[in-house]
Amino acid sequence: CGIVGYLGHRDGLDVVLSGLRRLEYRGYDSAGIAVPSEGKIEWRKRAGKIGNLASEIDERPMPSGGVAIGHTRWATHGAPTDRNSHPHVAGRIAIVHNGIIENHDQLRADLGVEEYGSDTDSEVAAHLLRREVEGGKGLVDAMRAVVAVLEGAFTLVAIDAADPQRIVAARRNSPLVVGVGEGEYFVASDVAAFIEFTREAIELGQDQIVELTPAGVSITTFDGQPAQTNEFHVDWDLAAAQKQGYDWFMRKEIFEQPKAVADTLLGRLNERCELVLDELRISPETLRRINKIVIIASGTSFYSGLVAKYAIEHWTRIPCEVELASEFRYRDPIIDPMTLVVTISQSGETADTLMAIRHAREQHAKVIAICNTNGATIPRESDAVIYTHAGPEIGVASTKGFTTQLIACYLLGLYLAQVRGMKYGDEIDALLRELERMPAAIQHMLDQQQQVLDLAREFVDSPSVLFLGRHVGYPVALEGALKLKELAYIHAEGFAAGELKHGPIALINDGLPVFVVVPPRGRDQLRDKVISNISEVRARGAKTIVLGEADDAEARAASEVYIELPKVSTLLQPLVSIIPLQLFACELATVKGHDVDQPRNLAKSVTVE
Ligand code: G6P
Repeated sequence: CGIVGYLGHRDGLDVVLSGLRRLEYRGYDSAGIAVPSEGKIEWRKRAGKIGNLASEIDERPMPSGGVAIGHTRWATHGAPTDRNSHPHVAGRIAIVHNGIIENHDQLRADLGVEEYGSDTDSEVAAHLLRREVEGGKGLVDAMRAVVAVLEGAFTLVAIDAADPQRIVAARRNSPLVVGVGEGEYFVASDVAAFIEFTREAIELGQDQIVELTPAGVSITTFDGQPAQTNEFHVDWDLAAAQKQGYDWFMRKEIFEQPKAVADTLLGRLNERCELVLDELRISPETLRRINKIVIIASGTSFYSGLVAKYAIEHWTRIPCEVELASEFRYRDPIIDPMTLVVTISQSGETADTLMAIRHAREQHAKVIAICNTNGATIPRESDAVIYTHAGPEIGVASTKGFTTQLIACYLLGLYLAQVRGMKYGDEIDALLRELERMPAAIQHMLDQQQQVLDLAREFVDSPSVLFLGRHVGYPVALEGALKLKELAYIHAEGFAAGELKHGPIALINDGLPVFVVVPPRGRDQLRDKVISNISEVRARGAKTIVLGEADDAEARAASEVYIELPKVSTLLQPLVSIIPLQLFACELATVKGHDVDQPRNLAKSVTVE
């Protein structure tokens, strides 16, 4: 979910509505807004996207002053209906909530309220706050009393109609940042909500309460102590959060990949050709002692972790496992102080991933986060972080997030190899030089887009599409299929090409489109096998679309449609082979008339487990 609060001299309704639009990628099942007005709460809320809320406000205008709070929802408890939309109002109190209040059933029973306005877990927080303020507490003290009885993940923002010049918010587990303008203040799930008005922000830590009044911002802990805060300047601007002529954020982000990859590589090599990862605050001695690496991530980030495994094991010879965050946490994994946990998360907020690294740290493992969002919870709770510098990713389906994560993983792998004496200056230099050529190689793929766009139109009515690859081509196949599922809502599956004969080949029928990623020449054993796999599916009627090197005559001869890849080494090939698959999914969904940036049922950062 996305939440926003505003207190200042502008029209609060306008500011919060525009903030919600920028947070819509966090969830778009419903949206709502509340303001204090003449001792009462006025609110509007509607199921569906923000546009529905805006129409509701046009039909039934609401008063507006300098204070407003709003919410855009990704439904967990309670169907995505008008009634379950936020804000939730109880007497003079209105709240918006992101997270899950796990003990809501118990709290509901204890409260003894006769009639609830919704089926959500969130509404209990509104009633608890009402009870406290009606008992005479100020809003901050009331919030402090309420958070003491809540369990689970909750970021709450509240207003009190009897005290209209104050917004109070509390944060546990779900993200919240404060924006500080000239005589105006913001709270939001993400800086994108207020970037139009200010680039000065304060990170809110775990278990902190923030109070906004015309006099300024005050931040305390849940226990009432002054809180340690971290002020930061946002280093991107509004333009980065706009489409700039593209039809979709996703398409813009696909085309930003050469720059995003170049920015992620920038400044990581010193004059002695050594890799420097300044942000890696784990000592070389500790890194030398590591005897196992476990990569933990969700969604697309998990697939970049699968690629990383091939590279890290090859370069460092340290055994490396990759695991879905949601599986890792609850299976009693074997980790100890000699384990290095690497967590990959574009948003830095994914709850499954966060819980997994908390568990890993409890077992005294060292945790390195690879993350794209400055100051997000996952990097804050890790021992060290390698930031990807992709800029804000707004399209729900990750693209530049994926390729920049690959870069960060390669850098980490090479750094570990350097520290452990497995690779020396010139070898690392050669690999880094190759990485530096990747932005141009990605650009080359983008320049060839027309072929892929035509293919997407040709296959728009296919009920199913398969993707095959081996080695690092296998995670690329999985990611290509995920893009298509997310955006086009058609059956798509990625398989390890070698596994085909063990079952999936039964799926092949006449005309079924099958993408195949062929490894570079030089890995001939591997490549020959993939070329045989192409023949196997083609013999059974599949329509083969093959991604292989421009001068690979055999791969070309084996395929019906051939997408040329530039020459890159095997381990780096995913950086180029994923590009046509991203473009294919984006275009196919566009032709189908889907909302590419906000696919149904999804949210960009899933802050609930
Ligand atoms: C959600 C998004 C995916 C993303 C995954 C992990 O499911 O829809 O696109 O890959 O979360 O997100 P993270 O921010 O942790 O990389």
